[in-house]
Amino acid sequence: MTDPVTVTVPLGDRAYEVRIGQGLLADAGRHVAPLLARPRVAIVTDEVVARLHLPALEAALRAEGIACEALVLPAGEGTKSWPQLTRCVEWLLERQVERRDVVLALGGGVIGDLVGFAVAILRRGVRFVQLPTTLLAQVDSSVGGKTGINSPHGKNLIGAFHQPSLVLADIDVLDTLSPRDFLSGYGEVVKYGLLGDADFFGWLEAHGPDLARDAGLRQRAVAHSVAMKAGIVTRDETEQGERALLNLGHTFGHALESATGYSDRLLHGEGVAIGCALAFDLSARMGLCPQEEPSRVLAHLRAMGMPARLSDIPGVLPDDAALIALMGQDKKVVDGRLRFVLARGIGAAFVSDAVEDATLTRVLADARH
Ligand code: GLY
Repeated sequence: MTDPVTVTVPLGDRAYEVRIGQGLLADAGRHVAPLLARPRVAIVTDEVVARLHLPALEAALRAEGIACEALVLPAGEGTKSWPQLTRCVEWLLERQVERRDVVLALGGGVIGDLVGFAVAILRRGVRFVQLPTTLLAQVDSSVGGKTGINSPHGKNLIGAFHQPSLVLADIDVLDTLSPRDFLSGYGEVVKYGLLGDADFFGWLEAHGPDLARDAGLRQRAVAHSVAMKAGIVTRDETEQGERALLNLGHTFGHALESATGYSDRLLHGEGVAIGCALAFDLSARMGLCPQEEPSRVLAHLRAMGMPARLSDIPGVLPDDAALIALMGQDKKVVDGRLRFVLARGIGAAFVSDAVEDATLTRVLADARH
């Protein structure tokens, strides 16, 4: 058993800890108890996670004398929607969850984002604890306070910034993920190295293939990713500048997810991985970074067994113009101009709105074979 690692997100009176380690779910009552004004919590989770982890969480709370009730929502991206948000908020109101209470979000990015938004608007703000159960949620979505739901117009277009009071990232629960889901989350881990830490990317090249079976390495990768995210969020909580770098690969990735109907054809982290490879291709084509850098990104994604090109996505994709149109819904668009996270090299990302459609089209066309 590894010792837990704590990363603090130092946001003044909204500062909180992200605790990363083994066995945290079974010990959740002890971690949550100091936050409670009364020994009672509401849990929101999804059907898949409830089957795997809800009994352990309930037992951990009971062991500390904390009463709990759980709302179990359908699993999947479709849950980040107005109907499920309404259901969640009304359920919390029926349970008379008060402002000084705490809600537990047990699940992946969908549950964390939905519950975070629900409690942001519930009585104008109720505290919550994130218990992320996917690699993606542990390294990205549970930290930093972005919450929200999707619209038919695009992903995450409705939401609020609302920081959790605590994040408990139990790396043991990642053992229950399918290899594909684990790798999808790895797309976000690799993103951190690519955007701002070349040494971390080198470490991932050496150790990435062993993360799924080695708890110590996995904890190190999660903790390093969270520490990078905490630093960025602390410097730029509401994404006025630097935080946009966390969207490396996402302009392409979101468009591809939309083009594949948010289906099993492409998971979010897979879209991010392909998007990172495309962002490096684009940067090299614009003469911003050396030609070897996109080859290195591609080689690492291939070594991990991850999709890295458009041709790795099963089925037919829309044409280049349609993909570029889908990118137009990106939240980084300003005055109708697409803004991309590009790179001067591995670990050196920056935001640019100087991308010509013709260059973009050539990069997309090349990635189709
Ligand atoms: N997932 C990107 C961010 O939190 O800013």
